[in-house]
Amino acid sequence: MKYTVVLTASYPRIARELLSPHFDVIEHPTEHGRTEDDMITILAEADAAITLLSDPITRRVLEANPNLRLIANHAVGYNNVDLDVARELGILVTNTPGVLTDATADLTMALLLAVTRRVVESDRQLRVDGRCEWDPLAFLGASLQGKRLGILGMGRIGTAVATRARAFGMDVLGIRRGEPLEELLAMSDILSLHAPLTKDTHHLLDAAAIARMKRGAYLINTSRGPLVDEEALCDALDRGHLRGAGLDVYEHEPEVNPRLLTMPNVVVLPHIGSATDEARTAMSRIAATNVLLVLRGQDPITPV
Ligand code: DGY
Repeated sequence: MKYTVVLTASYPRIARELLSPHFDVIEHPTEHGRTEDDMITILAEADAAITLLSDPITRRVLEANPNLRLIANHAVGYNNVDLDVARELGILVTNTPGVLTDATADLTMALLLAVTRRVVESDRQLRVDGRCEWDPLAFLGASLQGKRLGILGMGRIGTAVATRARAFGMDVLGIRRGEPLEELLAMSDILSLHAPLTKDTHHLLDAAAIARMKRGAYLINTSRGPLVDEEALCDALDRGHLRGAGLDVYEHEPEVNPRLLTMPNVVVLPHIGSATDEARTAMSRIAATNVLLVLRGQDPITPV
């Protein structure tokens, strides 16, 4: 009997290439905002599935298909999967760590530079004006040299960001999971978030925490949107308590708070931290390799 592998989105073609010779592969078009019922339908025939970070893999979804052996999440984060239930039901869960560290750290620096040097805002202005006039007072931003970058979450990506920031002459202050936030909030000129989304990190940056940030600081988030109370962030930007923000992730993806879209000092990207050919291909290769191994009765390479 041939196993069935469901791809819940169009992933880089390496996944299909590795899996098609061995299994029946069903590929669904990429779609966001799926419900539990959508997932139950999509996964109905799956022995294993490669899933999107936005696919809700809940108790109902996991219990609906007794044949399901593996959820290979196509992401390093796995907050969309109910791990406890998967464990209870004997369903393995894997992620794609390591291969997107550099891509995400690079994008963090891109956001940091874009926001502090007003790159997007000035690009937009030039397109409207159709002219480039050097103005001694136009588009003044903040320099990075000697500024303190606070890194919340010194895991793989946070550490890679620290290396890059030091090369720009920044002073880095980083904390690990569970360490107190106070000093980081009070001392950082720019705060960059690199923690996973868990019960403990949800709204870690709420109104009170944001109020404790330095006046005129910037916030960069390339981790998960719900770490930040987005309304509180908008209020702080409106009041001028924060000078700007660079965001790749949002509290209610795929929705983006409309207030953010009107603010010139906010750079908004559509969750593209890992979006390089190299990183996405490597993520797909890892996910497919995990499927191959598990359906052959072996251990996956990156279990969570
Ligand atoms: C992840 O892998 O968790 C990122 O958010 C997307 O690449």
